[in-house]
Formats: sequence, structure tokens, C-alpha cells
Amino acid sequence: MSADAAIQVKGLEKSYKNLTVLRGVDFDVARGSIFALLGSNGAGKTTIVRILSTLLKADAGTASVNGFDVAAQAANVRESISLTGQFAAVDEVLSGRENLVLVARLRHLKDAGKVADGLLDRFSLTDAAGRKVAEYSGGMRRRLDIAMSLIGNPPLIFLDEPTTGLDPQARIEVWQAIRELAHNGTTVLLTTQYLDEAEQLADRIAILHEGRIIVNGTLAELKQLLPPAEIEYVEKQPSLEDVFLAIVGDDGKDTTPAMTTTRTRKDQP
Ligand SMILES: Nc1ncnc2c1ncn2[C@@H]1O[C@H](COP(=O)(O)OP(=O)(O)O)[C@@H](O)[C@H]1O
Ligand SMILES: [Mg+2]
Repeated sequence: MSADAAIQVKGLEKSYKNLTVLRGVDFDVARGSIFALLGSNGAGKTTIVRILSTLLKADAGTASVNGFDVAAQAANVRESISLTGQFAAVDEVLSGRENLVLVARLRHLKDAGKVADGLLDRFSLTDAAGRKVAEYSGGMRRRLDIAMSLIGNPPLIFLDEPTTGLDPQARIEVWQAIRELAHNGTTVLLTTQYLDEAEQLADRIAILHEGRIIVNGTLAELKQLLPPAEIEYVEKQPSLEDVFLAIVGDDGKDTTPAMTTTRTRKDQP
């Protein structure tokens, strides 16, 4: 497809012994966009991320990332991406700032402290910068993890289930961090099991099912696949998430009240 694609995947196949996971996966991700790979547990999302980040070899098919072939130019691919796995890879004993400085030094950046402070600010962690990560909430930890993976300014980031296991408030905080990434021009490929996460964040959504991408489109395109809506008059009940957020409050930096955010989305056809 387009030469401007940040990721191009064609006919990707992968089996683990006699378990066939990918049966011919095709998709492209446009530069600077957020692409959500949606699939249930065990669908093969992490397998795709591992192949694209050169941690695993495909059995068949081709994939390129930032113009580099994942099989033939693995080193180039690795230099141009960052990967945040399902489990936060931060050091608990260190403070948030120390974690960032450590990674910046490992990457031989000149002004590690300045890089760390910039990222702390960008992910609203400045107030917590000096505290041990062990004391961080799940959302803060995941935000720090994403911040760490951005050191060195990779043009593309893989986020494998960035909000799995987080409570609703923390999910909203991480969503804001992800939106911020795309806003700064980073291409984001995220995997998720949550429909609402894809709906909230993604420019395009691809659904992985039984080893293939069964649909791929914008949210509006995906909605058109449904039969036309019938108009029914029912009293709208808040979801449990609405109730939770209304009581506990959206502690993130968002100025929009949580009730409005969730409701507007659900009220749309
Ligand atoms: N190293 C491995 N060896 C054998 N089976 C694996 C391995 N990694 C993943 N699998 C299996 O492959 C399937 C897809 O796994 P995965 O890509 O992790 O799915 P997802 O990330 O969508 O949950 C699952 O059934 C999983 O158990
Ligand atoms: Mg996974």
C-alpha cells in the first residue's frame, strides 16, 4: 500500500508447535496514527507485536516497520521503535525520576536529567518525581513505563495491552498519555481486549480473530457494518463505570467532568 505506512504486514503466519496462531495477517498502519489491534485473550496480539518488534520470527509473510524489513533489517527496526509490554518494567526501588535518568544514561543521552524532567512534565508526574515507584498507583506506574519507552524519541511505539488490570481512573490517565503521544506525531500500535479502549483512542481498529484480521477500518466504518439502528425509547441508565467515576471523581488532569465524557460517548448512535 502507501509508501508512507509506518507498518506494513502481509500474509503473516505463526504457529507454536501444532498450535496455529496467525493464519495470514495483513494490515498497514499510517504514520502518526493510532492503530488498535483488538482481539480476545489468546487471539495472537502479543505474537504480532513480538514479530513486529523483532523478538520473534514469523513462519511466513513479510512485515516492515519504519521502512525496514523485520527479518532482514532487525537492528534498524529495533533502533526505530519502542515496546511497552503488558507488565510495567519499572524499577520499584528507584524514584520515577531516577528510573528515567537511568534509561536516558543507558541510551547515552547527553542531558539525562533534562530529558527526565521533560518526560515527567509531559506525563504529569512532576509532583511524584522524587517518590519511590513502589508507592505509585497503577496508572502512574504505567505512565512512567510509557515515558521510559519514549526516551530517545522513537517514531513508533508498541503498547501491548496498556491498560489491562488498571482501574477506571488509571485507564483514563493512560488514555490521556496515549493521546498525547499521537498528538506529538508518534505512531502508536496498541493491542487491547477492550472495545471501549479502541473506540476512545484509535484512528483505525482491526479485529484479530481466529488467526486473521476480520475487519479493519475507522470506528465510523465499523459501525456501518451493523444493521441500521432501530429507534427505541428507553430511560438511559448510567453504567457502573459512570457511577464509579461520578462518586470517586476523575483524578486525572482532564478538565472535562467524567460524567460528561462517558455519557456523550454512550449517547451517540
Ligand atoms: N511461546 C509460546 N509457546 C507456545 N504457545 C504460545 C507461546 N506464546 C503464545 N502462545 C499461545 O499462542 C496463542 C496466542 O498468544 P498471544 O499472542 O499471547 O495472544 P494475545 O496476546 O492475543 O492474548 C495463545 O493460545 C498462547 O497460549
Ligand atoms: Mg497479549
